[in-house]
Amino acid sequence: MKNILVIGSINVDYVIYTERLPKLGETLNGKDFAMNFGGKGANQAVALSKTGCNVKMLGAVGKDLSGELALNNLKSFGIDTSDVIVADAPTGAAVITVCGGDNHIILDIGANACVTPEVIAEREALFDWADFVVMQYEIPMESVLFAAHMTKKHGKKVVLNPAPVKEADPALYACVDMIIPNEFEAQLITGIEPKDEKSTEEAIRALQALGCSDAVVTLGKRGCAYTEGGEIRYAGIYNVKVVDTTAAGDSFIGGLCKSLSEGKSMTEAVVYASAVSSVTVSRPGAGVSIPTACEVEEFLKTHHIGD
Ligand code: RIB
Repeated sequence: MKNILVIGSINVDYVIYTERLPKLGETLNGKDFAMNFGGKGANQAVALSKTGCNVKMLGAVGKDLSGELALNNLKSFGIDTSDVIVADAPTGAAVITVCGGDNHIILDIGANACVTPEVIAEREALFDWADFVVMQYEIPMESVLFAAHMTKKHGKKVVLNPAPVKEADPALYACVDMIIPNEFEAQLITGIEPKDEKSTEEAIRALQALGCSDAVVTLGKRGCAYTEGGEIRYAGIYNVKVVDTTAAGDSFIGGLCKSLSEGKSMTEAVVYASAVSSVTVSRPGAGVSIPTACEVEEFLKTHHIGD
């Protein structure tokens, strides 16, 4: 099992379920309000750890109750949090409405803004330890770029989930071994909407032209498209009842990196990642909904892509 360093966000999610979204100025009754542990970085770290990887997290929480609870939550999954700093800022918070299984998220990154290049530079030894470094965009963009350069300096692999999508320094893409955007993010980065096979392949080739060695573009109900040995391949989805899509992408990325870290092929890794993500969306919440390795094995015994 390889060592995986996640550099990213730790949030507390405030989630409410609603039949429809309110109109401007309207107050609606929602239901099933819950406070969950989230953050794209933390969710990906939880997915990696729950499926059996060695995981260290570099991030930041605030000096508040949410921060303390979020940190304890990560520790409870066996994630090494020695390099999560406690910053003088509120813990990151996401207000999430779930409507018909889909989510809308408003984010205050709070303490995540304190994951600066300086904080990363002080922890250079982590890049010796790691085989893969997994990042997203809920920490400052200059920190993502700095960490990507640091990863390459140490000869390790950069896995980038460009979410929430933002304009990035072109130098970042040149460091990326594997980019994993959803279709919306792929369109914003490349200017090409991956709406059919031809345009999806163009979008993937455009990501590679930017400098990313490999790419997986998740396509919602259409599954995903990915590169393998110079080819572009497709995988469908498992047919499950969707309850909450929060952390769908995060759990997919966790499953993909776990599989690749075990030396599996891209085709095998994508199937495993889809299974992790399918179980996740069939349950409410973010990190809490992500399955363990045993749960994924059980799921794979009884489900097949396309059924
Ligand atoms: O990807 C899902 C995550 O995005 C949520 O847990 C929320 O914290 C936001 O960061």
